[in-house]
Amino acid sequence: EAPAPLSLTVNDAAVTLDLPQGTTLLEALRADLGLHGPKYGCGYGQCGACSVLVDGQVARACVMPASAASGRAVTTLEGLGRADSPHPVQRAFIEAEAAQCGYCLNGMILQTVALLQAVPDPDEATIRRALRHNLCRCGTHIEILKAVRLAAR
Ligand code: FES
Repeated sequence: EAPAPLSLTVNDAAVTLDLPQGTTLLEALRADLGLHGPKYGCGYGQCGACSVLVDGQVARACVMPASAASGRAVTTLEGLGRADSPHPVQRAFIEAEAAQCGYCLNGMILQTVALLQAVPDPDEATIRRALRHNLCRCGTHIEILKAVRLAAR
């Protein structure tokens, strides 16, 4: 029996998707909705590249069944800001030149947005703790930390 269509909100728009059983939220966002902000890194919930916000909380879309987002509000990197009007956190990452290859930045930015919603003025230890499960293989952590501090200003 085919699963029922899935209805959810993505970046403030109502969407309905017909997905094969077992589709992850990441696959649905990237393949069905063309939202390529969230990246496929490890596929095991370990690196953070696929992060999105689900009802305002960070979720790892590679290990989240799309069906678990039913009726919920998903925000991707695309939903934060646009190229001509970036979100303050995106602006801070640009200003700090925090990207090398850029693959981790989706997760770094989403995690920072969630952090600053919870703790508007985090100290260094709090920033490091919040980002400790987001992996950057280029090693731009110093610039990323600078970006978070800029965003928190
Ligand atoms: Fe989802 Fe690595 S791709 S956590």
